[in-house]
Amino acid sequence: MCGIFGYIGKKSTAAQIVFAGIKSLEYRGYDSWGVAVVPITNSKVVVKKRIGKIGTASVSDLPPGNIAIGHTRWATHGGVTEMNAHPHTDCLQSIALIHNGIIENYAQLKKELIKSNHKFISETDTEVATHLIEELSKTHEFALSVRMSFKQMTGLNAFIALNAHNQELIAIRNGSPLVIGFGEQENFIASDAPALLPLTHDVYFLKDDEMAVVTMSEVNIYDAANGKFKKIQPQRLDWKKTDASRGKFSYFMLKEIHEQPEIINTLVNQSSISTDQLADRIKKSYGTYLVGCGSSAYVSLAGTYLFSKIANKHINWAPASEFAYHLDFLTAKSLVIALSQSGETMDTLEAIKAAKNSGAQIGALLNVLGSTLYRESHYQLLIGAGIEKAVASTKAVTATLAQLVLLAYTLSDNKKIGQKILIQSVTSIQKLFNNVNNIKNIAHQLKNAHHIYIIGRGLSYPTALETALKIKEISYIHAEGFAAGELKHGVIALIEKGTPCIAYVPNDETYGANLAGAMEMKARGGNIIGISHKSHEIFDEYLEVQDAEEATIIPNIVVGQLLAYFLALEKNLDPDMPRNLAKSVTVK
Ligand code: G6P
Repeated sequence: MCGIFGYIGKKSTAAQIVFAGIKSLEYRGYDSWGVAVVPITNSKVVVKKRIGKIGTASVSDLPPGNIAIGHTRWATHGGVTEMNAHPHTDCLQSIALIHNGIIENYAQLKKELIKSNHKFISETDTEVATHLIEELSKTHEFALSVRMSFKQMTGLNAFIALNAHNQELIAIRNGSPLVIGFGEQENFIASDAPALLPLTHDVYFLKDDEMAVVTMSEVNIYDAANGKFKKIQPQRLDWKKTDASRGKFSYFMLKEIHEQPEIINTLVNQSSISTDQLADRIKKSYGTYLVGCGSSAYVSLAGTYLFSKIANKHINWAPASEFAYHLDFLTAKSLVIALSQSGETMDTLEAIKAAKNSGAQIGALLNVLGSTLYRESHYQLLIGAGIEKAVASTKAVTATLAQLVLLAYTLSDNKKIGQKILIQSVTSIQKLFNNVNNIKNIAHQLKNAHHIYIIGRGLSYPTALETALKIKEISYIHAEGFAAGELKHGVIALIEKGTPCIAYVPNDETYGANLAGAMEMKARGGNIIGISHKSHEIFDEYLEVQDAEEATIIPNIVVGQLLAYFLALEKNLDPDMPRNLAKSVTVK
């Protein structure tokens, strides 16, 4: 949550560089935004803040300067107001601070600072940190004051502090991500690596309890606990610059949906030792768990069906936020595989930290090399989806599913079959793209619906959950996905004449039972939208999805993505930035 960006360097357009940075990070939070710059002419910080999305705003009115920081906010402490937007400044306007996280003991710290005559103008915890640094820097060198303040604060946080006098940026973290970007006589800090791509590909992912002192010509990393210098090696990102732009598409979400065939093709053609190693580890472990949050939770659930069907392997599942309540079962022989696009989701990280403490081995399927999850796990399998910018996950979901299909087939010594059916799934997705008008028409019909019910069995159960999530996230229509067999145990009470009911009826062992569920809904007046390889008389509307065996889950999920996308457009909503949501949830 919250996008953070900092610049220090030879260019005097620091405010504009930072502004472009936070614009590209806006998917992390978009309640309000702000930029602070130190003008060339003096050392008093100048700040511009606004509420709402950045939209067509600009910072051309900010003065030239070589050092600036900026922030897009996802409010935690204090409502969405200009006062509460970041950056926050100290009493003398010579320190500015941006923050991601929650300072749990802020009230107590604030009380002490008020006693020392610090004036507060916002309701935020961040402003408390700013004044704490100010107070300590009266008697200590700036970087040390930041480090000392950080130690006094409880909670999981990431900060960039700007020191206008010495022209330096201090980045420090123990929870939310921060990435340092290295340039020529200029350096950058961002909360996500994609924001750095237009500027540099040389990065260092700051670890928990590390502090970076960043000037125009140098980046020095220290242990935040004891101040000891740490020698580090930057890494080079191989992402393409074009990944970070919308290209010919009107929204990132549509662009990312369309990237899916290429991503899956690439995965299929890669021979990955990591897949073999993780498969081998699954074979040896006593008890394997798949965990994740949001869409990644539903992909984890799908994984349990894939491993059972393809590899005869029982795998447990839990949403990462619930995993803490399964820890009693873990031993050193257990394997916990976390699924996370960003590799930074707090609940997922907490789950694997707890699992590690129980001695379990950690595997990860993830999209971001160098992310916290990447570093914290013993086995990493990258999904190669490239930068995903739309808040609602699409290509990362199907890329993770494709990796799970490959992993399950590798486990059963039939990798080639996995590759074959994934190629079939690509053909099936392409066919959907060619017939996209069918999905658009259904979105048009459903745009005024208040509730949509979605059923499926087996692999189509997590598919139904994921489709419902996509619809909720970006069209704000209440959608409920559930196991078709559960229909008669409750939800059927809600079906009445005209209720939209989506039934996933793929060509697998669930075909007949799924049709029976659709019939039960139809008998109560439900308007049945059948998603299947072949039409059936009970469908009021029919969307064809060409069969790809177990990998049919992939095109089936793509139907849900497109439906949600077109529903958002029908309702004049921005599918890339749904209300109240953030791309990577780095708070608990
Ligand atoms: C947020 C996003 C979801 C995503 C979830 C998990 O809630 O809005 O789209 O599925 O986080 O993210 P992860 O990066 O861990 O897969």
